[in-house]
Formats: sequence, structure tokens, C-alpha cells
Amino acid sequence: MSHSYDHGGNVFTVARTLGVAPDQILDYSASINPLGMSPMVRKALICSLDSLIHYPDTTHKELKQALAKHHDLSSSHFTIANGSTELIYNLPAMLPGKKALVISPSFSEYVRALIQHHWEAQHFILTPENNFSIDINKLERALAGGVDVLFISNPGNPNGTLYPQRVIEKIYSLCLSTGTFLVLDEAFMDFCEEASAKQMVVHSDNAIVLRSMTKYYGIPGLRLGYAISNTTLAERLDSMGGPWSVNTLALAAGTAALQDVQHNQNSLEFVRQERRTLFEQMAQFSQFKLYASSTNYLLVEIKDGITARELKDRLFHHRILIRDCSSFMGLSDRFFRIAIRTGDENKRLLECLGKIIK
Ligand SMILES: Cc1ncc(COP(=O)(O)O)c(C=O)c1O
Repeated sequence: MSHSYDHGGNVFTVARTLGVAPDQILDYSASINPLGMSPMVRKALICSLDSLIHYPDTTHKELKQALAKHHDLSSSHFTIANGSTELIYNLPAMLPGKKALVISPSFSEYVRALIQHHWEAQHFILTPENNFSIDINKLERALAGGVDVLFISNPGNPNGTLYPQRVIEKIYSLCLSTGTFLVLDEAFMDFCEEASAKQMVVHSDNAIVLRSMTKYYGIPGLRLGYAISNTTLAERLDSMGGPWSVNTLALAAGTAALQDVQHNQNSLEFVRQERRTLFEQMAQFSQFKLYASSTNYLLVEIKDGITARELKDRLFHHRILIRDCSSFMGLSDRFFRIAIRTGDENKRLLECLGKIIK
């Protein structure tokens, strides 16, 4: 069975369509660490090949211990999964209730997962005119209508907005007063770790943090993510996935990735620097409006001229992929998202944009 999903990163399909190898495609549509995976991860993967003769370790002990050290939390607070998407699909089956509110624009899998589990999903829409800021009074009114679960991504995707801890704490206290369970998706939080709400959720019955290891650690093809929660929730969530949904290679890669402090530090600095440069270069196009980002991607609005779909199609023929954001709730057909990549790659993107946007 094949699936058609509206996401970035479809390099294999695109390469087949264009009749080229996947490495000929410059993929700006998926937001992955431009420095790629750590050499220590590559080595760990190769060293683990012989272990594939065994079933994976279902306790995920080593990775949990590495995460505990990394986050300075006890390992009982972690649940490991086959990408954070697996957690997004398991949560609606585990949580009580039927009405969810999703702060949007956001990752489309929240609603897809909710609907699959017969939840009613509504959107709380943030607007570009207000720089995607959250009107707390309005949110309070929305939650008072009886919401069982609230989904929010911090930093936001595709907008890249980082909501400070005090805003998240305010939202959390609203959720406590209305009996709403808070799902905080921190898939891109490694790029701004200091703002994580991990400490807030570890003793809460009402909130959970979801983390992805595919973006910052550059292994989307391997699939790895985790949740941070109180120990009871962690145990319940652990029992939701199948016994071997996380494979041996992913476990080894995750553990090694956390140990390569140097590569991780370089990645952070590289992304910060390139984001600043790319932001300034993109802002040179008078047709573009840029939105401030704390992550490894930028949201761009085309003020006049072509639509994001047309731009995407034109770049496609230059073997460059961007994320047309018109399918995101709350965004018009003029929005697109690009990942932060290396200086040389960005130069190619900018040259092609220069030819298309005159
Ligand atoms: C906000 C957000 N959350 C979660 C995910 C899922 O990540 P993964 O399943 O690769 O861990 C994505 C992927 O793009 C995302 O953008």
C-alpha cells in the first residue's frame, strides 16, 4: 500500500519523476541538520550491523540513560519511539476525551492522528499579521468550551516562532484549570534547548513533551523520537507501541548522537550563523517577507507576484525542493518554508530564485 502525505522531504519520489539520483536534489523542504549525522553515529551504525541478528532491546535502557544524562533527568521519564510521529499517533489512543484543540498552523499529523482515533479536532489559528503570537485571553475562552487535549508545537512549525517559557507556563496553567491535557511538541527544541518545558512536565499528570531525534541529529530515514513525562505516563505510553517499533540501529544511533558533544555544538553554531546569513540574503528580495525563526528553517511570504505553488514548480525544474505552505491551516497560498543549508547550497538556491523572481 502506498500513502500520499503532504510533507516536505519527498526526495525519492521527486528523483524518480525527474529521472535523477536522489543526491542530485537539493532538498529545502525537510528541515534537517545541514551538517548531517555525526561521524560517531555513522560508526555506531556500522558497529551495530552484526547485532541485527537479534531482536532489538525492548527496554531501550542505554538510550534512556544517555537521554537522562543529556537532559539531567531520571531515565524513568523517557519513552522511546519510532520517530515522534509514532507518539503523536499513540497519544490519542491513550488519552481520555474526544475534543482536541490544535494551535495552528502546525504539523498536519496531529489532526490526522486525532481523526484516526475518532477525536474531534479544532484549530486555534495564529496569524502572520500578529507574528504568530498567542492571544492568551482568546485561548482561555477557547479552552473554556471544553477541550480535552491541546496540541502546541514549540518552536512553531512552519513559522519557527519560539514561545518563551513564561507563555508556555501560562498556557499550562490554563490547561490545569480547564482539565485539558497539554501536548507540547518540541521536535525542533534542540536548536534552542534553554526554552524547553521538560522540567515543567516531569511531575505533571497533565502534560507531556514530545521530542524528535530525526532533525537535529540528521537521521529522518532511521526514525527516532522520545517523550518526556511523569513516570506513570511514560510507562503507559511505552506499552502503546509494538514491542520492536524502535530498531537496533536507531537505538545505537541515538545513543551515539547524544555523545558527540562537539558535532552537536558545531551544528548549533552553524545553523545560527547560516540562518542569519540566509535571512539577510532572502530579505534582499523586495517581494519576500521573512519571519523570525529560532530553528533550522525560515518561513517566507511572497508579497506579490507568483504563488508558493508556482515558485515550487519553477524551482523543481532546477532540482530544488521547497515546502509550499498553502496546505497549512491559517496560511495563504503565498507562504513557503525553506530549511537552513550550507553556504554553497544557499548560493544555488538564491541564484535560481534570482532568475525566477525578477
Ligand atoms: C513539528 C513536528 N513535530 C513532529 C515531527 C515528526 O518528526 P519525526 O517523526 O521524524 O520525529 C515533525 C516532522 O516534520 C514536525 O515538523
